[in-house]
Amino acid sequence: MAHILAIANQKGGVGKTTTAINLAAALAQAGRRVLLVDCDPQGNASSGLGIRIQDPDQTLYRVLLHENGPPPLSRPLEELPLWVLPANPTLAAAEWNLTATPDSETVLAARLQPLSDRFHFIVLDCPPSLGLLTVNTLCAAHSVLIPLQCEYFAMEGLSLLLDTIRKIKLRWNPSLAIQGILLTMFDRRNNLSHQVATEIRKHLGSRVLKTLIPRNVRLSESPSHGLPVLLYDRSCAGSRAYTALAREILQKGAHRE
Ligand SMILES: Nc1ncnc2c1ncn2[C@@H]1O[C@H](COP(=O)(O)OP(=O)(O)OP(=O)(O)O)[C@@H](O)[C@H]1O
Ligand SMILES: [Mg+2]
Repeated sequence: MAHILAIANQKGGVGKTTTAINLAAALAQAGRRVLLVDCDPQGNASSGLGIRIQDPDQTLYRVLLHENGPPPLSRPLEELPLWVLPANPTLAAAEWNLTATPDSETVLAARLQPLSDRFHFIVLDCPPSLGLLTVNTLCAAHSVLIPLQCEYFAMEGLSLLLDTIRKIKLRWNPSLAIQGILLTMFDRRNNLSHQVATEIRKHLGSRVLKTLIPRNVRLSESPSHGLPVLLYDRSCAGSRAYTALAREILQKGAHRE
């Protein structure tokens, strides 16, 4: 059975998609079969792997709104056992239409269930909101990884996210665990980055993962080539960091309560 891992933070631009793509690729590089589900109407996890789809029938939109038929999975890279269930902007309409569906919070969980035996990991890239799409990912997930950018307002909004996770555990998904807080875009030459990382570790202790993701230009370049950083520049600091993150998650055991 796949471990379903949501990458969530309602704050925008904190490194969710970069983490979803590159952690998925690093887990695949470690020999795991991985499905990356793009749950964001921005479609960045899809386009970052070179997948641009106009037809909503070939995206998560159809999977959420119509149960019929096999899900439209793509395998963008021959080198890695990594599949993608893509999204495009029509997914925003799915969020709206879902509100009229019974059990609208658990539709994604139900749709992923038949796929579970085919993969070791299913990674869910969330949009920057706590709307119904994110709620669906948290209802479907076994654990949630929370990227926090090493900047002054990093922890703003974190308590709201933790509160949402608590509510989802109470109502729909009692075994949802926090995989960890991931510090992203750490700039070692910048004092503020150090201060913020120290502060966050002081407040959140062992919930913060050991692996730190550095600010690395290769990580921001690789999506425009449709590649995870591991295939774009294998030896750069970003590749090393996401390989270490995959190792940390595999060693800890993907977290279940
Ligand atoms: N470690 C990093 N080093 C350098 N640039 C990074 C790093 N992580 C992310 N970026 C860049 O920062 C921007 C935001 O990252 P990303 O898209 O992963 O965030 P996000 O949380 O998914 O955003 P959104 O909330 O809009 O979905 C992107 O341009 C990305 O390339
Ligand atoms: Mg994103």
